[in-house]
Amino acid sequence: MEEKGAENGVANMAAIWQGFDPVAYLQNEYTPPQADFERKDSHVSWRLGCLHRAFTEGNVSGELLVDIGSGPTLHQVMSGCEAFNKVLLTDFLEVNRQELRCWLQDEGGCSMDWTPFLQHVCKLEGRQPSAWTEKAARLRQVIMDIVPIDVHSPQPLALDVLPSAGADCLVSCYCLESASPDLAAFTRALGNIGRLLRPGGHLLLIGSLGMSYYNGAPGLKIPTIPVNEAQVCASLKESGYTLIMLEVYTWPQDTIGLNDDSSGDFFVNAIKE
Ligand SMILES: C[S@@+](CC[C@H](N)C(=O)[O-])C[C@H]1O[C@@H](n2cnc3c(N)ncnc32)[C@H](O)[C@@H]1O
Repeated sequence: MEEKGAENGVANMAAIWQGFDPVAYLQNEYTPPQADFERKDSHVSWRLGCLHRAFTEGNVSGELLVDIGSGPTLHQVMSGCEAFNKVLLTDFLEVNRQELRCWLQDEGGCSMDWTPFLQHVCKLEGRQPSAWTEKAARLRQVIMDIVPIDVHSPQPLALDVLPSAGADCLVSCYCLESASPDLAAFTRALGNIGRLLRPGGHLLLIGSLGMSYYNGAPGLKIPTIPVNEAQVCASLKESGYTLIMLEVYTWPQDTIGLNDDSSGDFFVNAIKE
């Protein structure tokens, strides 16, 4: 009975996600004021800073980096692409995978210009912003594929996608709390993606705190799990991770509640036991 309820919750979420609009999402979340690189306290500056520090100061490097629930976005792998030889992008929705393929093929007509993001990450790395073309080329070179994923499946990726040892590192941004119907499903999803990671590998997880919905398309509020820091830590522990670092971002007053009702974000660096 309980299992049936869990299955229904996951199926309901999957149905809601079919209405997601990548173009609206990119416009809402990846343009100013969220993505204002002039402001150190902007949402995207914080996030890119966390990832930059993790990949440069945290001894997080290796062969294969897997991004869980990439959506239509690339910012989350712009630092990691320098520390790993291969990057695998994944998403539940074909519309998002299509958006990523568009960028990868570099034939124009994409919904998003990632240049300011690439320039910003180059600056974090101590390079000239003009080095963004090299970073874009590096990213296109290391992205090995863009594949379907379901974090609610005990086997989230198709069988032959990963080497048997698993990935050396997982990064995931705003996926688990927005794809899960409740905290138990969030925790199970952490365990499911953990099976893709080798023991000792890092999970870099970014998510929203206290968020009950966000705008996934014009007129579509996607319900999400309003997690707090203690719940994230407990779910990680229950799913076989050791927490190394947790950072919290608080919205500047003038950007609170633009697209959702979150109180802030968390960034976690954890190791699979
Ligand atoms: C809020 S978006 C985050 C996108 C991107 N990672 C970012 O940082 O903006 C959440 C993503 O989770 C994906 N998603 C929804 N259900 C999922 C599932 N069951 N398994 C994996 N990903 C899922 C959606 O397609 C969407 O791309």
